[in-house]
Amino acid sequence: MTHIPAITGTGVFTPEQVITNAELVTAFNAYAERYNAEHADEIAAGTLEAKAPSSEEFIVKASGIEQRYVIDKSGILDPTRMYPALRQRSDDEPSLMAEMALDAAQKALAMAGRKGEEIDLVICAASNMERAYPAMAVEIQSLIGAGGFAFDMNVACSSATFGIQAAADMVRAGSAHRALVVNPEICSGHLEWRDRDCHFIFGDVATATVIEPADEAKGGYFEIRSTRCATEFSNNIRNNNGFLRRSRPDGVADRRDMQFMQNGRKVFKEVVPMVSQHIMSHLADEHVEADQLKRLWLHQANKSMNDFIGRKVLGREPAPGEQPNILQDYANTSSAGSIIAFAKNSEDFTEGDLGLICSFGAGYSVGSVLLERHG
Ligand code: COA
Repeated sequence: MTHIPAITGTGVFTPEQVITNAELVTAFNAYAERYNAEHADEIAAGTLEAKAPSSEEFIVKASGIEQRYVIDKSGILDPTRMYPALRQRSDDEPSLMAEMALDAAQKALAMAGRKGEEIDLVICAASNMERAYPAMAVEIQSLIGAGGFAFDMNVACSSATFGIQAAADMVRAGSAHRALVVNPEICSGHLEWRDRDCHFIFGDVATATVIEPADEAKGGYFEIRSTRCATEFSNNIRNNNGFLRRSRPDGVADRRDMQFMQNGRKVFKEVVPMVSQHIMSHLADEHVEADQLKRLWLHQANKSMNDFIGRKVLGREPAPGEQPNILQDYANTSSAGSIIAFAKNSEDFTEGDLGLICSFGAGYSVGSVLLERHG
């Protein structure tokens, strides 16, 4: 017997600490001034380039981001440090990703009216894992008291939609009955806060989604009508962190090589058409006209990117509320962004309303989930 999979609960964990653009720019400029003073001779001799200051106006205009939530702001804003100060946990304590995921999971389970023990599949889908193994998902499975099995997956910013597809397919086929997909993203840990071109991009968050057979939903639900995933290799967004720690010729581990890197302009130019095309062909295959969609919940990386995609898919200027952004408050939270947009902007859906979640990013990767509201 095949089941129709449905999203019956969502949850968002938002860290308590906020960094505004003003605070971020003050810290970056203090760091840049110190750097320039320390290297004044090389800069004067023309052998080293001076660091230019960052600006709040640029950040808002280029990205639409106004602030970001982070697990630890003190370390990030310390101009002598510029990365989060995260306490080393003992192996007997819950890991940070598991703790964040647990908070989001409890909210999603409460919304679905389910207990942890009713879950038999946990997928932890995120763009970086706190450790390689045991899988983060197995720890989360244990913390919520779930049975069945659990595993991690990483498709960078598309991890959540790819995770939803994997869970929906398993619920449909019966290899799992009730799934929890969690997306804990500690983006502050892999961002180079000393790099003016990208220091404003990311924030921390965790999201969770409960997926179960539609006919078992305890309340209103979003039927997962269909999902579509696509990938195409590109080096334009890359993080070389991994178990093969490479070092520079002088033997010093290269911090920058282990963090997020991108050619932002190329990403913009190449990903926008790929995503628009992906959404349009997904809709065409489902015999759904773009105008039938009440809402697009897009990946939250850049406001202009979303404006372009919305215009292309709808063939007109999106009306207010048709394509809600949360990136002004959360910045780019990698795979979690489109799920935050969905979780915070779906309560007004009524019977038969259609919407589409779409995430995109490194890989390149694009994942879309077509949803229909019932109940
Ligand atoms: N403050 C002030 N000026 C800055 C700056 C900062 N923090 N960072 C860059 N600039 C300057 C640059 O030096 C450049 O100046 P120049 O024209 O004199 O050379 C100018 O602003 C434009 O820089 P550029 O990097 O080309 O900006 P952009 O308009 O492309 O915006 C991004 C940058 C990253 C916001 C944008 O390219 C983007 O969002 N790309 C897609 C990102 C994405 O989705 N990534 C996926 C991540 S998962």
